[in-house]
Amino acid sequence: MNKINIQPVPGNVGVEIQGVDLTKKVPESLFEEIREAFIENGLIFFRNQNLTPEDQIRFAEQWGKININRFFAKVEGYDQIAEVRKEPDQKGNIGGEWHTDHSYDQIPALGSILLAKEIPSKGGDTLFASMYKAYENLSDGMKVTLENLNAIHSSRHIFGDGSVYSKSSKGRIVNSELATQDAIHPVIITHPESKKKALYVNRAFTLRFEGWTDEESKPLLNYLYDHAACENNTTRFKWSPGSIAFWDNRCTWHNALNDYHGERRLMHRITIEGSALV
Ligand code: SIN
Repeated sequence: MNKINIQPVPGNVGVEIQGVDLTKKVPESLFEEIREAFIENGLIFFRNQNLTPEDQIRFAEQWGKININRFFAKVEGYDQIAEVRKEPDQKGNIGGEWHTDHSYDQIPALGSILLAKEIPSKGGDTLFASMYKAYENLSDGMKVTLENLNAIHSSRHIFGDGSVYSKSSKGRIVNSELATQDAIHPVIITHPESKKKALYVNRAFTLRFEGWTDEESKPLLNYLYDHAACENNTTRFKWSPGSIAFWDNRCTWHNALNDYHGERRLMHRITIEGSALV
């Protein structure tokens, strides 16, 4: 029977999965092992997977329904695949702040599968952080305080008219008029599959605590953001063409480093629909 090889990566979140060829449909027995690793770690990496768009879509569909992203430009001919692109003459990148995808949706995404197509000669790494560990490493007092709080998340200030992206990402981030989503989620969620608790606020999309003003919320949110992004809670992934990161949006954050001006970086992202958070 085939067995995959699961290796920890440097840092404190994520594992690399070896011994699987994603250019073919993953057999059910292997898929179950990969699924367990994904649920347990919230972040899995693969190397040297030179997938066609069809291969990436087939792998994504093994996990659930594909979410067609409203804001990202699409890979030509493949509405299911969002393009994460930065050209040599562009300064701003996409995803260059700690965030989890789609927290502004009432039902946030399960996860995203990011495939490296073209990588700069140096730089362009992605940082990841574990929100399981961020929760576990809070004091008991803080955990009790946060258990009773909800937070408001929004897409407006990121993707809407007048937002940072609408000025700096012409043609890459589109449909600013569709950035109308606001959502309220618990600050501490119980992951629907692992049943573990995770911190669920993020610097990009969370606006404030429900019932609190922005000013009241800011100090505690900033404390949580610094706490969650501390070095012993994160990993830094160095890409090469054919690398894949598949992250669980319910229990990780990511942050794409923007340190490769003058070079091209092109990634293909597929996002998978999730379920309501409690
Ligand atoms: C994203 O936030 O989806 C992009 C991450 C990356 O390009 O590394």
